[in-house]
Amino acid sequence: MTSANIESLLHENRLFEPAATLSKALGGAYVKNAADYRRRYQRSIEDPETFWAEIAKGFDWFRPWTKVLDWKVPDAQWFVGGKTNVCHNCVDRQVLQGHGHEVAIIWEGEPSGANGPEIRHLSYRDLQRETSKLANALKALGVRKGDVVTIYMGMVPELAIAMLACARIGAAHSVIFGGFAAAAIVDRVQDAQSKVILTCDGAWRRGQVVPLKDNVDAACETLAANHAAVEHVVVLRRVGNAVKWHPRDHWWHDLTLTASDACPPEWCDAEDLLFLLYTSGSTGKPKGIRHTTGGYMVYTAATAKEVFNLVPGAHQVYWCTADCGWVTGHSYIVYGILPNRVPTLMYEGAPNAPKEDRFWEIVARHRVTHFYTAPTAIRAFMKWGDEHPKRHDLSSLKVLGSVGEPINPEAWIWYHDTIGGGRCPIVDTWWQTETGGHMITPLPCATPLVPGSCTHPFFGIDAAIVNENGEEQPANAGGLLVIRKPWPAMLRGIHGDRQRYIDTYWSRVPGMYLAGDGARRDERGYFWIMGRIDDVINVSGHRLGTMEVESALVAHDAVVEAAVVGMPHEIKGTGVAAFVTLGPGHEASDALRKSLMEHVTKEIGAIARPDMIRFTQALPKTRSGKIMRRLLRDIAAGKESRQDTTTLEDYTVLAKLRESDE
Ligand code: WTA
Repeated sequence: MTSANIESLLHENRLFEPAATLSKALGGAYVKNAADYRRRYQRSIEDPETFWAEIAKGFDWFRPWTKVLDWKVPDAQWFVGGKTNVCHNCVDRQVLQGHGHEVAIIWEGEPSGANGPEIRHLSYRDLQRETSKLANALKALGVRKGDVVTIYMGMVPELAIAMLACARIGAAHSVIFGGFAAAAIVDRVQDAQSKVILTCDGAWRRGQVVPLKDNVDAACETLAANHAAVEHVVVLRRVGNAVKWHPRDHWWHDLTLTASDACPPEWCDAEDLLFLLYTSGSTGKPKGIRHTTGGYMVYTAATAKEVFNLVPGAHQVYWCTADCGWVTGHSYIVYGILPNRVPTLMYEGAPNAPKEDRFWEIVARHRVTHFYTAPTAIRAFMKWGDEHPKRHDLSSLKVLGSVGEPINPEAWIWYHDTIGGGRCPIVDTWWQTETGGHMITPLPCATPLVPGSCTHPFFGIDAAIVNENGEEQPANAGGLLVIRKPWPAMLRGIHGDRQRYIDTYWSRVPGMYLAGDGARRDERGYFWIMGRIDDVINVSGHRLGTMEVESALVAHDAVVEAAVVGMPHEIKGTGVAAFVTLGPGHEASDALRKSLMEHVTKEIGAIARPDMIRFTQALPKTRSGKIMRRLLRDIAAGKESRQDTTTLEDYTVLAKLRESDE
């Protein structure tokens, strides 16, 4: 985050009270006002076990738990001894209670024909049938409880079905974002020791075909060479593009055609692994975050219910624009929404396909009531112009949401006025892949909003700003954001790396969960997130380890050394700036710059593509050999000449000047 942003946040004082009419429009508020929030919050903190047990009772358990929480830093077990199934609670339970015919998923494809885009409505009964068939197909391929199934698909309903089918049989899934390249698949499949991949022939993105199956093929080749051969690849036909066929490949439609549609949900232990989700850390290797069954199910559904005020039968249509490849898609497209019996909308493609008003067309067409997106998208909409939302009827909207990075007050006000017509609260939800669900967030009918602040902790969340000794900081003093008590959806570890789990989250401030964000709390108790404190940058709301990009660059023939830092970016929030030194025989040129950019896209994916590459004789380093990242950040932010030319520069000169200053 730039200092200009911090400045503007510091001076942000406008208060937006919830409209008195909102509760009625939402079919009744769960949390009615600020006093109601404080009362329940107090109770949840004083006695979290009773608080969470009451909520957990609202789910189906095949066998009740014997103990709500078992906590020994840094290991939590929630609902100990309880047996349940997440797919059952998302799907079968709705059918058993007589709601099988109701719409569970509304899906809209990206391409538009003469009759408009392809639209599908899937009921809970459809989901029950399809998850059962796929679950049986997976079993027939040898998938067993506890195995990890990799899912690399576009945003089609079958992606949600794939996740739920795994949950149904107690297999864990590892969803890889469809925008990632083959190399990212290799790392994740290998780390998870996954033997089965579910994919699509291709995915639609802005009218182009993303060749998902080709990427899987390339990954499988490398994996086989690494002695980590994938045994089965199940391919959903979505686009109809040509794909190469291998003995390990199966068509999805062939397997499910003959599979039985009866598959009783597996009895899973509350602490059985539900999924792995890889996220970037401050080393080159992504971390496989472990989430388990009972606590995650209860927490994501409870937060979705309260934070969006989801009310079944109140004609709500909920749309989260994330991709299921990110945690937002896991928790707030699939697992948190389905148990609340409000239709969840999935859109396949880009916001500007075919034109910049696609999202608003979707809102109007489906009468969307809840819209949850990221600040980077909001900034893009602002840039595209007000005429796009103005062309559509957005009067169905009631609650807006924001996630992924701090929302700058200008974007907040635009979102509030232009999209929300001044009547919809914005729930600015702070959370992480590791936390599983919302942690600090407004509640729509209860929290007076201040643009740019994610406001107050959710029930049961003991969030604080502390210094390195774990001492709470006074109002407005910046510090480390920590969580001091366990919560049901907290991560249960990093797959295969116990030490990294302890080092990353539990060592800097002993006994507390370290979020990795810097933050402050103002005199009213409102939380303000100031950005990451590690070598992770937040590009378009997605976490990217600078080391990952550095290793991709260094893997290029021409590159000897690379340093990557974040730089301010109008749309992305933070852009990727790379400083590169070249090996002998390689000349700085625009062609080489372009080839490096493409190389990173190929190695990691388009989100990691550098926005700026500067060639340098040598990287500025301290006497002990540490790269002076702060100096590079200043240069990237334009505090030195910003021209992105091919000239070879020598930043060590600047470093020496700076050292002599200090
Ligand atoms: C940032 C996404 C400010 C933060 C759900 C966090 C936010 C990281 C917000 C997690 C927000 C997420 N305000 N910052 N409302 N939401 N962040 O794991 O730096 O992809 O640590 O989870 O995004 O990113 P992740």
